[in-house]
Amino acid sequence: MVCAWLMNDDLADQRLEHHRSPPVFVPLDKLFKTTGVEYFKVNLDSQNPELEELKNKRGYSYEDEILISPTQLPNYEEKIKIFFHEHLHTDEEIRLVLEGSGYFDVRDMEENWVRIEVKPGDLLILPAGIYHRFTLDTNNFVRAKRYFVGEPVWTPHNRPCDEMECRKSYLERLKKNLEE
Ligand code: LAC
Ligand code: NI
Repeated sequence: MVCAWLMNDDLADQRLEHHRSPPVFVPLDKLFKTTGVEYFKVNLDSQNPELEELKNKRGYSYEDEILISPTQLPNYEEKIKIFFHEHLHTDEEIRLVLEGSGYFDVRDMEENWVRIEVKPGDLLILPAGIYHRFTLDTNNFVRAKRYFVGEPVWTPHNRPCDEMECRKSYLERLKKNLEE
């Protein structure tokens, strides 16, 4: 099961868990309601008709792999700073962890950081327009699949970019989601 929790605001090493005291966990259904983040569990040891179905249904026509580790990612130090800077994208960010682990942090409606721990078999879909960031944990290694609809655009738009169309429609969708 994927695990998510509200972060404390201490500025120690970003790779630590940063639990509040006492810890405040965020269940998956609440995560979806308050952020729009979707989660799927993928069995990496066998054929995955569900994954193929998801890719077809959502039009994920592009895929590649990303490997993040101090020795295997070119410009590692620079890249991890960019990953951990709060940003959004004009499209979904879709990641399936194959090996290793890490944390996706997403902002909820009340501006809290929700830390989502990802491990092998965790597929996360961050909606377009959500403010987020990524860090490795203390294991310093992750290998993940990235999916995209059409030609990939990985450009991060650093906060603040509240005037972007994708940000406005994200907030509208979230509001509707909460009213349902
Ligand atoms: C990305 C993650 C780091 O934009 O948010 O690739
Ligand atoms: Ni991103």
